[in-house]
Amino acid sequence: MAAATLAPSAIEHSVRQHQENPASKYALPVDEPEGQRLISQHWTCKSLFGGRLVWAPIEFTKDTKVLENATGTGIWLLDLASSIDPSVEMQGIDIESRLFAKSLPKNISLRVGNLLSHPSDWTNTFDLLNQRFLMVALEIPQWPQALNEMLRVLKPGGWVQICEPSAWRDASPDRTRPGLTTLNALVRALGAQRNLFLECGEAMPGLLEKAGFVDVHKEVRSVKMGAWGGDDGVKQMVNYIDVFRGLKTPILKAGGYGLVSTEADFDALIEGLEAELEGTEGDVLYSIFWARKPIV
Ligand SMILES: C[S@@+](CC[C@H](N)C(=O)[O-])C[C@H]1O[C@@H](n2cnc3c(N)ncnc32)[C@H](O)[C@@H]1O
Repeated sequence: MAAATLAPSAIEHSVRQHQENPASKYALPVDEPEGQRLISQHWTCKSLFGGRLVWAPIEFTKDTKVLENATGTGIWLLDLASSIDPSVEMQGIDIESRLFAKSLPKNISLRVGNLLSHPSDWTNTFDLLNQRFLMVALEIPQWPQALNEMLRVLKPGGWVQICEPSAWRDASPDRTRPGLTTLNALVRALGAQRNLFLECGEAMPGLLEKAGFVDVHKEVRSVKMGAWGGDDGVKQMVNYIDVFRGLKTPILKAGGYGLVSTEADFDALIEGLEAELEGTEGDVLYSIFWARKPIV
């Protein structure tokens, strides 16, 4: 970790590696621990959805073309590739290449790109477009723009599939979790400052319809956070805490929003979070949406 070059109001701290594209407000790191978190999140998310990676009714043939927006490490593509025809062409794009898997099968290619402006010659190209976990990446007005681009690059009749979590829900409201309350307030402040759409999951069916997609479907699963959710619940909790941990640099660079004033304050919130989460039966909803581009 390096010392940060900070704006006057910023709180001094050891920084993690973040993407530097000025066109992006993406708030999570792009370093090795984040790559590991994304891979772990893939497996727990897959398990949550009964091992099913594709909900859109697609039959994979040698002519099928798949695109993943904001692919991160490419783990979803890599996992899918292991169970379908090896001649299916799979393309992943991300605004940042640092997380890309180093070793790929011949039918997967990863490249740097912004999901808000795909290449002009991709119009009507893909049968399936997958996109997950952009909640802390896209500004509110960028969501319609992103969905318009998805519509453009899908073939007529092609399917989009999107996965996003919902906000935290509390199954035992009598308990108090001051650390979590403060961390949630910090994330809301960061989201407001960057104009991020933290409620994009709730809005997704309407956004898809407004963009022109039809046959909009939704599958929702509850993630039980902590030991009450078994092994996966513990993994989900660790992952959830790592998301907060990963937001430290943007929060402290912004000066802590009047909620934390030193790095030690922030670290203490993170350190106390596991005990708070283990003391409650909290869950988060994950939703997968899929919808079709009209044929005409
Ligand atoms: C939380 S990660 C999810 C990665 C992957 N979808 C997964 O499920 O493991 C979000 C990813 O979005 C990428 N990203 C953010 N803004 C983007 C943009 N405008 N265009 C393309 N990728 C973007 C980030 O670099 C990061 O890899």
